Amino acid sequence: MSAAAANPTKPGLEDVVVSPSEICFIDGHKGRLVYRGFDVDGLVAQSTFEEVTYLLWYGRLPTRKEMDAHVKALSSTANRKLPPKLLAMLRLFPKKTTPMEILRTGVSALSAFDPDAEDNSREATLRKSIRLTAQMPTLVAAWDRIRSGKAPVGPNPRLSLAGNFVYMMSGRKPTPLATKTFDVALILHADHEFNASTFAARVTAATLSDLHAAVVSGIGALKGPLHGGANEQVMLMVEKIKDPGKADRWIRQALADKARIMGFGHRVYRVEDPRAKHLKRLALELGRQAGSTAAVEILDIMARVVSAEKHLFPNVDLYSGAAYASMGISTDEFTPIFAMSRVAGWAAHVLEQHGNNRLIRPRSDYTGLTDEKYVPLAQR
Ligand SMILES: CC(C)(COP(=O)(O)OP(=O)(O)OC[C@H]1O[C@@H](n2cnc3c(N)ncnc32)[C@H](O)[C@@H]1OP(=O)(O)O)[C@@H](O)C(=O)NCCC(=O)NCCS
Repeated sequence: MSAAAANPTKPGLEDVVVSPSEICFIDGHKGRLVYRGFDVDGLVAQSTFEEVTYLLWYGRLPTRKEMDAHVKALSSTANRKLPPKLLAMLRLFPKKTTPMEILRTGVSALSAFDPDAEDNSREATLRKSIRLTAQMPTLVAAWDRIRSGKAPVGPNPRLSLAGNFVYMMSGRKPTPLATKTFDVALILHADHEFNASTFAARVTAATLSDLHAAVVSGIGALKGPLHGGANEQVMLMVEKIKDPGKADRWIRQALADKARIMGFGHRVYRVEDPRAKHLKRLALELGRQAGSTAAVEILDIMARVVSAEKHLFPNVDLYSGAAYASMGISTDEFTPIFAMSRVAGWAAHVLEQHGNNRLIRPRSDYTGLTDEKYVPLAQR
């Protein structure tokens, strides 16, 4: 009997439950997102990305002493800086290499310099989680500057992860609003249950492979436009529309053409993604500060039309790009920024997977031939 005869196929593994997990809960009907028991709305209001990484990895909020030690580890120059040989390697890549390709390659290369690379113990994976979370913003910022002919800016241990990223990208002291925006964006993207990239990371971890390998798998899956790559596509759409006055007509035409509209729809949410409202608020605030709210106006018009016509609602990727663009961040950096945050979730899931491991190995519904006769090459 074929595997599919015993178990009906679920295309895209829709609604398939793969394993228990204590990390993240999504209520797709109420539009609720919870990390380790804490509603993400509350974390946005009261927490920081650094504290959220602690929560995801250790399963509880830190005490003051634990928090100080954790922040110190995530901010130390030793953990944030890139090995000089890796920086030298970055200078060898063609300037047209996309930031996502550099991130995927750079994270893989970082494992060659990591003292715990091959150690899968919980303690070593936690040390690697801290290092990778601290290094990824430095890698993203370094490539952004190298590709535009500028010298990379070294990390500043006195700045938060969010503030330091803005500093390393621009070389200037970050404004409180820019720091706050990045911190909130990092909190909101940190985890999302068994999404495609996290599942890819868990599949890799379940073969008892290491954290760097799992994160590289996650980055590869995040890159696609149906997942993390959607935020870049949204901004390309906004750039095409340009004028809020043209948005209604443009989006109605796109729907009539049966186009897939990036930034809308979700496998799990049946209502608006709870993360979208926070990013919209920040995008609006940053737009006002930068002197143009046109991008948010265009997105709002699209949201009104798409929800009325298709009953599809904004997801996390609709407004994030508008916020980043107001800070002068290039469109192709949006998905790497997503990865800089999601590494926290990937690491939490690798820790959980290694803590109670079983190889993840599904079956296919084989629809090919079974009894072909081999004809030698000379006779074909
Ligand atoms: C996220 C996403 C991949 C989920 O897809 P899914 O659960 O596999 O749902 P499907 O792709 O099977 O879509 C179901 C139906 O809704 C439609 N649909 C879903 N999202 C759509 C979108 N963004 N624009 C237009 N139509 C969409 C599909 O065309 C399909 O219609 P049909 O049944 O008439 O063919 C999908 O909504 C999408 O492609 N969104 C745009 C990309 C995006 O923003 N990704 C980031 C997610 S956080």
